[in-house]
Amino acid sequence: MTIPPPYYNSDPHSFGFSTARSRWPKILHTAIDDTTREISIREDIDAKTEGAQIVQEIIQLVEEIQANSCLTPFSSLFIPGLKSYNETLSKIGEVTWLTGPWLFCECYLYRRLDTIFKTKSKWLEFDVFDRLKRETFKSSALGIYELAIRYKQLNSQIQEKKDNELDLESLQLLFEEFVDVSLWGNATDLSLLANASLDDIKSVQGKEARANSSKNILCNDLPQAWNRLHSLPLAKRRVDFVLDNAGFELFTDLMLSLLLLDTKIVDKVVLHCKCRPWMVSDTMIKDYHNLINDLKDSSIFDEHRFEIDFLISKLESYRNQGKIELQDSEFWTVDLDYWNLSPSETKYGGADLYKYFQNSCLVIVKGDLNYRKLTGDRRWPRDTPFTTAIDALASSKIHILALRTCKADVCAGLPPGKDEELSQYWKSLGNEYGELWCSSGKWAVISYSDGEK
Ligand code: F6P
Ligand code: MG
Repeated sequence: MTIPPPYYNSDPHSFGFSTARSRWPKILHTAIDDTTREISIREDIDAKTEGAQIVQEIIQLVEEIQANSCLTPFSSLFIPGLKSYNETLSKIGEVTWLTGPWLFCECYLYRRLDTIFKTKSKWLEFDVFDRLKRETFKSSALGIYELAIRYKQLNSQIQEKKDNELDLESLQLLFEEFVDVSLWGNATDLSLLANASLDDIKSVQGKEARANSSKNILCNDLPQAWNRLHSLPLAKRRVDFVLDNAGFELFTDLMLSLLLLDTKIVDKVVLHCKCRPWMVSDTMIKDYHNLINDLKDSSIFDEHRFEIDFLISKLESYRNQGKIELQDSEFWTVDLDYWNLSPSETKYGGADLYKYFQNSCLVIVKGDLNYRKLTGDRRWPRDTPFTTAIDALASSKIHILALRTCKADVCAGLPPGKDEELSQYWKSLGNEYGELWCSSGKWAVISYSDGEK
């Protein structure tokens, strides 16, 4: 099959169209507000001066987008990864904000924003999305309590079993339950829910919400991933998570990690984080530590302390034993799609990760943006097999399980006719473009590739 073109911001039928015109400016305005707040706290006069400059540069960035200007090459090439953007720009030629390929422009946007801070000596460590990530996590208390209670209860049941061994069927059911938790944890992404009320957040985080959503999983390859987990001896069962969002979603990924380790379904979990603020809510290594500290803080989470403390002690103990490891790589924040997880991508970390994943039992790739990068964000007919849409990755020997709630146009692996059915349904609800069902975050896909195509 020939490779289709990507989605473009000029296409009103694509979610890129409204993203570029209204979501990006909103996200940047919030960044301006948070920088302004930080300037008022800083006492150092140089930091204040640089802060004012940062605000000016972000305002200029908003104006560039709204004027549909060209994306310009980066000049601060001492910052890792920026060369990749320049190389791509020189390959594809002129790109403008409101007409260019959505995924490339979006990655470029977050690098532009990051570069504004990384070129100011007093602001190198500042994460402009930190406040948003932490505040939203704090408003996730109900979901956190519910899961902490469930985990404690489960752990007691496992302890009661002879030799702590559960039968295979029970294990599989638990695996499915916690994958479901981790999958729908992705529905609370800040770039979409930045203005969500506490009630909105609760409505997508509870057990009930998950039960209502289970019919919205449009394809489900989980049984294949389950079989893969048992095809290797325990000592070789390392699971890698290519993480998506910090806060509640990370919490759900950690719940899944604990379940996998406690039940000895796997021997080790490695969490792959971003090196810099990315797509608003993505996880950096420091966000893991923030999450643990926030969980420990009884002024934030004042109920169910016993269950929460138990969960933290389990996480810390696995971390101390090296059973949960955190890593980051520049590769995740270059513009390259994940087809570059290959021995030939030697400049930006793709070859190293390729090599590392050869020894992984399963690479769980979380969320929407990571899925877009798996599939090249291209206009695949939505019933294209997942293993076609991930191109070279399908023969990379890497075992991939994508857990994604659909928040963008690209999708693969659907049964024939499903896209048409959902498009009609979405239109019947009064939406202008039926195909935008796929960007609503209400549906999800669970797709697997064994890397042996
Ligand atoms: O599609 C909307 C969007 O906000 C994109 O901007 C970005 O690709 C993605 O969703 C972020 O979602 P996630 O956190 O699930 O990757
Ligand atoms: Mg994200």
